Amino acid sequence: MEGQHFCAVMVASEIRIANNPAELFKAAADEFASLAAQAVHRKGSFCVALSGGSTPKGLYALLASKYAPAIPWRQTSVFFGDERFVLPEHPDSNFRMANETLLSRVPLLPENVFRVHTEEASAEAAALQYESVVKNYFALRPGEFPRFDLILLGLGPDGHTASLFPGTAALEEKHRLVVANWVEKLKAQRITFTYPLINHAACVMFLVSGKEKAQILHEVLEDSNTELPAQRVRPVSGRLLWLIDQPAAGLLSGGTT
Ligand code: 6PG
Repeated sequence: MEGQHFCAVMVASEIRIANNPAELFKAAADEFASLAAQAVHRKGSFCVALSGGSTPKGLYALLASKYAPAIPWRQTSVFFGDERFVLPEHPDSNFRMANETLLSRVPLLPENVFRVHTEEASAEAAALQYESVVKNYFALRPGEFPRFDLILLGLGPDGHTASLFPGTAALEEKHRLVVANWVEKLKAQRITFTYPLINHAACVMFLVSGKEKAQILHEVLEDSNTELPAQRVRPVSGRLLWLIDQPAAGLLSGGTT
């Protein structure tokens, strides 16, 4: 893969640029498999939070096929960095997308797949329930934050990530791990990991593909005058990895050689 490493203006990040989406997803699958192997070797388990939207489908399809034998699925636990407040069979459900493209195709232990229970009566109830699942899984004491081995994130055209949208209440959350977040422009409730949770991960991997993301990616990585949600992802003691394809990297000052 054509790659180059340069630090972004905003924060020391590892930025890799793939020639095209196929190479992007291969790079992401390689990283996923490597992190899984390292985590299982170190502590006997791998805990990952998947992202939603459409970009990760290419990665999930690879993980479910060519890469499946390389992943320690029985030692892997899967969470979701965010979810739409819809039932799991709804076309907009991130769980449904991940289940169709990956989870139903690999030998994960069902008890190790933790979806957001969007059957709850309210988004807040679903967020509280999911937060307690995270706390129990990591056996957290009060005030402690979980350390996911990997949190996958995407980048929306407005600079949102997970369901941390510009101008929404969840951006200001400093203590909770998971919150409900009303997104006015979507007229929809979301459930999302918060920055305190995300920023305690061992590795956060953004996957960004396509020409339509070039402008926002330039702003997120190179415009210090903006305050976009994705810019506030800064792991306190973990890796921040941006995997980007050339169409998405088209406006970065480092060029797209
Ligand atoms: C979601 C995602 C969201 C997504 C971005 C990018 O629930 O939609 O978590 O944060 O990653 O919107 O989405 P695309 O990959 O579809 O461009």
